[in-house]
Amino acid sequence: MILVTGGAGFIGANFVLDWLSVSDEPVVNLDALTYAGNLENLASLKGDPRHIFVQGDICDRELVDRLFAEHQPRAIVHFAAESHVDRSIHGPGDFVRTNVNGTFTLLEAARGHWMSLEEAGKAAFRFHHVSTDEVYGSLGPNAPAFSETKTYEPNSPYSASKAASDHLVRAWHHTYGLPVTTSNCSNNYGPYHFPEKLIPLMIANALAGKPLPVYGDGQQIRDWLYVTDHCSAIRAVLAKGTPGEVYNVGGWNEKPNIEIVHTLCALLDELKPDPAGSYSRLITYVTDRPGHDRRYAIDARKIERELGWRPAETFETGIRKTVAWYLVNQAWVGHILSGAYREWVDTNYAGR
Ligand code: NAD
Ligand code: DAU
Repeated sequence: MILVTGGAGFIGANFVLDWLSVSDEPVVNLDALTYAGNLENLASLKGDPRHIFVQGDICDRELVDRLFAEHQPRAIVHFAAESHVDRSIHGPGDFVRTNVNGTFTLLEAARGHWMSLEEAGKAAFRFHHVSTDEVYGSLGPNAPAFSETKTYEPNSPYSASKAASDHLVRAWHHTYGLPVTTSNCSNNYGPYHFPEKLIPLMIANALAGKPLPVYGDGQQIRDWLYVTDHCSAIRAVLAKGTPGEVYNVGGWNEKPNIEIVHTLCALLDELKPDPAGSYSRLITYVTDRPGHDRRYAIDARKIERELGWRPAETFETGIRKTVAWYLVNQAWVGHILSGAYREWVDTNYAGR
């Protein structure tokens, strides 16, 4: 069995669903159910004995030790994190706690468990750390895409906390020999994406007839990957990756934010036309994010060359599926747009 952390969040839940659709190997899913964790994402697994959900904190060493002892996982896939850059600007403390101390706690618990294994179990064990392209910093317009040897230049409290966690993971391999792998992935999108991030926020606001808040000039570039392609990349690293190695994962889809917003408006105009006119009428430029990174781009040649992974979706197929998913899952969105979500919207947008 494998231990997954953060498996009730956006990518973690997609990973658990994807894993159990291709394998019968059970998953223990440890998630604290913060504002971003949602058991509705896993509703289709209700009653499935292959999925064991444990509500708990990755900083809780006793709990993590108990899960290792009870379930003897052959691998851990570590997604749990505070993941939203804007939230890290308003409140960095939780990011240091979960992303740095939480990863440290997991590494120490995993090391204790790993040390207790026989040689064969030791060699087969994996600690896979799910990280981000943001640790590499911001690219100039003509700079080459991030390769695995790019220097770390994190610019936000979020990316700095993820960079710190990457360094801890690296050190636990170098010093103690723990068989770790790390993947640094670009922006994901797809089903179950929490509607405070760009793509689901724009869809939710458009359908509600609210402004579509584009930060700054909207020319910041992100490299978009459909979430199930990220899941298949992680499966490939787990199956074939070399301990101590880092794999960059991306979709070869660099797009300026404003182009993403126009694409979403055009798809919504086609799939759910608004009698009041094109959704693009709602586009509103607002004050930029402080320290906003201008461009990210991933060079994903290593994972293709060494592990044979390539994304299955193009941006055009993935974004169409995504908009269609949100249109038929309005109840899922509706449950999230609660009091707590509205408080966040006031915190982030009221003063812009
Ligand atoms: P998310 O915010 O949607 O989900 C995070 C999950 O972690 C939630 O279920 C939450 O309840 C859980 N969690 C938070 N703190 C916890 C704690 N202390 N103990 C246990 N569980 C806790 O995040 P996501 O977008 O799914 O990202 C998952 C991982 O992938 C993160 O490590 C993130 O840095 C990384 N990543 C995300 C993207 C992206 O585009 N979203 C891209 C690259 C890498
Ligand atoms: O690059 C990978 C990262 O992608 C992950 O590590 C993070 O966990 C994930 O949240 C994401 O970070 P971003 O900051 O790129 O994602 P976000 O959806 O918040 O913003 C995407 C871009 O859209 C960014 O340039 C900021 C802009 N934006 C965002 C929001 C929420 C807007 O213009 N308006 C908005 O209202």
